[in-house]
Amino acid sequence: MNSIVIGLQWGDEGKGKIVQKLSRSHDWIVRFSSGPNAGHTVYHGDTKMVHHLLPSGTEKNFLFIGRGTLVDLETLNSEINEISKIYPDIKERLFISPYCRVITPIEKWQDGAIERMKGKKSVGTTGRGIGPTVSNDANRIGIRLFDLFDEEHLKEKVALLAKMSDFDGKSVSDALLEQFKKIKDRISEVNVKGSVLFEGTQGIMLDPMYGTYPYVTSTPTIPSFAFYGSGLKSENHEVWGVFKAYATRVGAGPFPTEVFGEAGDALRKRGSEFGATTGRPRRCGWIDLPQLEYASDVSDVDHLVMTKADVLNGLEKVGVCTAYDKEITPYDLENVKPTIEYVKGWKDLESSEFSDFVSIVERHLGRRVDYISYGPSEGEIFQRKG
Ligand code: IMP
Ligand code: MG
Repeated sequence: MNSIVIGLQWGDEGKGKIVQKLSRSHDWIVRFSSGPNAGHTVYHGDTKMVHHLLPSGTEKNFLFIGRGTLVDLETLNSEINEISKIYPDIKERLFISPYCRVITPIEKWQDGAIERMKGKKSVGTTGRGIGPTVSNDANRIGIRLFDLFDEEHLKEKVALLAKMSDFDGKSVSDALLEQFKKIKDRISEVNVKGSVLFEGTQGIMLDPMYGTYPYVTSTPTIPSFAFYGSGLKSENHEVWGVFKAYATRVGAGPFPTEVFGEAGDALRKRGSEFGATTGRPRRCGWIDLPQLEYASDVSDVDHLVMTKADVLNGLEKVGVCTAYDKEITPYDLENVKPTIEYVKGWKDLESSEFSDFVSIVERHLGRRVDYISYGPSEGEIFQRKG
């Protein structure tokens, strides 16, 4: 059985840890979308690692960065160096599709320039060049890893890109080639045998087509993209939808259940809600059931995993959004007023109040919550009884 792990909110649901747990029962861990904007925090024993491009596998997995992933060679190389200290054989287990699009400094500069141009309407991107790499690619002027095998061809392509900026094409190509040397022997499509775990990134609400456009990322986060973005087939798979017991969002855009002021700061502090990629403070709010229902439906999830439930331990009351004031189409959540109901808080996850909270979520979503995660390390998770 293959698995697809995705986020049901705005990213940062704790997918990395769930991927790590499920990695034990899969042979391959595969990335199929986004790029170094992602930040999956995984503890390998006592060592904390933030995976931006490397799939969050463990000691036995083969890792594949599929063609739908945007690659920043510098980030990739520094991540390989870092994780080699934990798994010295990691490079032999890693394969990178030659079809992957390459992020150059030109796209990173464009990312900032477009954000500045938008002013108040800026998205609050991670600045990793994601949007421009996708748009240059759609304009058929993007760079693929394939292009780096032929120096002259690469230089020509980079020179064209450089025309849109003040960059010196030659120094951009030279830097790319220098980084490319280090992973050249890992570039290959794969012939997968065994089971695959497709590691999703960000969350459904950041999907460019299903999320809160235009406040979204630029590559799909929806599970069906796993196949398109990896080139792999799957006859049998289950979708694991991961969500937090509350909600966070980093960057701009509608967030109906956002909690402001001291109460919001308190949630941020309890949950250490600061971006794994950019360090930015995340906006925090209550769990949003209509939003989760939408996200679970469009992704057709088979399993639900609730994370960071322990963060709310000891609160007197916990907010739950149970309805909006209107029907929303398109599903951009603009100007929506949430109905927030407060339920009694819980002392710890054994308390009946916590169980009641999970039941409210399950009833609203019409789906069972299979697992509850209560801490960053792999063992801190339990299966829901009943
Ligand atoms: P971009 O993906 O850098 O273009 O950013 C677009 C939007 O997605 C911004 O609001 C980012 O904060 C958000 N975003 C991108 N990647 C992540 C992630 O991994 N976690 C949470 N938010 C993200
Ligand atoms: Mg993250």
